[in-house]
Amino acid sequence: MAYNVMTADEAARFFKNGDNVGFSGFTAAGAPKVVPTAVAKMAEEEHAKGNEFKINIFTGASTGDALDGALTRANAVNFRTPYQSNKDLRNSLNAQDIHYADMHLSQLGQDLRYGFYGKVNMAVIEAADINEEGEIILTSGVGITPTIALLADKIIIELNSKHPKEIRGMHDIYVPNDPPYRKEIPIYTVKDRAGSPVLKVDPKKIVAVVETNLSNKVEGFTPIDEVTAKIGENVAAFLADQLKKGIIPKEFLPIQSGVGNVANAVLGSLGKNKDIPAFTMYTEVIQDAVIDLMKEGRISFASGCSLTLSDPVMDEVYDNLPFFKERLILRPIEISNNPEIIRRLGLLTINTALEADIFGNINSTHVLGTKMMNGIGGSGDFTRNAYISIFTCPSIQKDGKISPIVPMVSHTDHSEHSVKVLITEQGIADLRGKSPIQRAETIIENCVHPYYKELLWDYLKLSKKLHTPHTLNAAFAMHNEFAKSGDMRNTKWE
Ligand code: COA
Repeated sequence: MAYNVMTADEAARFFKNGDNVGFSGFTAAGAPKVVPTAVAKMAEEEHAKGNEFKINIFTGASTGDALDGALTRANAVNFRTPYQSNKDLRNSLNAQDIHYADMHLSQLGQDLRYGFYGKVNMAVIEAADINEEGEIILTSGVGITPTIALLADKIIIELNSKHPKEIRGMHDIYVPNDPPYRKEIPIYTVKDRAGSPVLKVDPKKIVAVVETNLSNKVEGFTPIDEVTAKIGENVAAFLADQLKKGIIPKEFLPIQSGVGNVANAVLGSLGKNKDIPAFTMYTEVIQDAVIDLMKEGRISFASGCSLTLSDPVMDEVYDNLPFFKERLILRPIEISNNPEIIRRLGLLTINTALEADIFGNINSTHVLGTKMMNGIGGSGDFTRNAYISIFTCPSIQKDGKISPIVPMVSHTDHSEHSVKVLITEQGIADLRGKSPIQRAETIIENCVHPYYKELLWDYLKLSKKLHTPHTLNAAFAMHNEFAKSGDMRNTKWE
């Protein structure tokens, strides 16, 4: 090999305090594993010697515990963007030990190229293969890799033999020109390719190759419960009805589906609903359910940014690569979540809300307005530009002590202007073409749990007739009541 092959500990020595470091991948899929863990170990050694050592981390999205978890526990992170879902990192950023900028995932690549964050000192890239010309075959997640590879002074490759070289051909690597030279992105159907199957980097920038064979260790899903199943059925019934009414064209439209258990259950229900034809996906994260439905012929094609699959399902894809390479494309996040393409293709988007208000605003990120859960992820990219944007959530949390539907969201990620439909296990609120009071009536009637219906009807009565009938000193009373007694059901309107 033309490159310096070394251990992760040796490669860690290239990192300096204060470096801006970009990591490949998207979720744990395609994220480096052994190098970040070695950097964490080195940071601890530096701290023991009394030296400062922290880096700034840029990624496609969340990563695995070997990256976000290990570096956080070593107190080696100063700044983190654009998304995370790691328990230790979450605790640290909520304690202000790490500065975290939550942002729309489609934007980070271009923002880095625009110079908003300064220089990228280092890129660490997981690869299935590399040749002497600097042509890299990426693995199961793309994220911001093409941009960090372009901008970084130095590149370290984690060559991971868990991913077969034959994955070549699944990726479509395309970086748009920056303004004023940007052109349309030539993707007109989910299957179109705009770029190259390989990522080409300047081989002179590659300072180390570290070999590994660690898997992504993506966790499987918890079994679908009654509530999650009902949410999924309601989403499928809504889309089938829109198809029947001709609002969704007879060819159907590509689906984007968010992350987590609800999203996985929704896909399962769409697959089972025979009124919905076999469909395509133009999405961010490709989860286990997509692969199952592909085998059944219910999903004919999926374009995404990562194969965030549990290890057994990932193995299944690799064991049947010819079948799946005809049906899957992995793209940079800037393309999988690109507003231009989302609007052009007319996506049906389904994302999960942490909290919704009776007027249709959505909080995807902040528990009780203050504590960061994960981040907005791609939900904003998709919701704002969708053909029909849907949010789902269960109508109660914590055995009924919390109603995710409140008078006013404690943090706004998606405003009433972008949210077209809200669905819980109770039912469906179609918000299109409705005024604030009509939206409130529809949401309370169809989506709110019986524990909270009367309380929310009474909230509306507190105000005289106004365009958006809020009563500001009561708008957060349910949140305050939860903080006081631990149960929103005790709320009394003063
Ligand atoms: N107030 C307080 N706590 C709440 C709450 C609320 N309104 N709603 C949920 N919670 C708690 C739950 O009780 C649960 O607590 P636990 O971990 O102690 O059990 C926790 O928050 C997570 O809730 P859960 O229903 O399991 O959430 P989830 O796994 O379905 O994830 C989001 C929901 C919103 C956190 C997740 O979808 C997300 O991060 N979304 C933003 C990014 C995104 O949409 N990406 C997709 C774009 S492609």
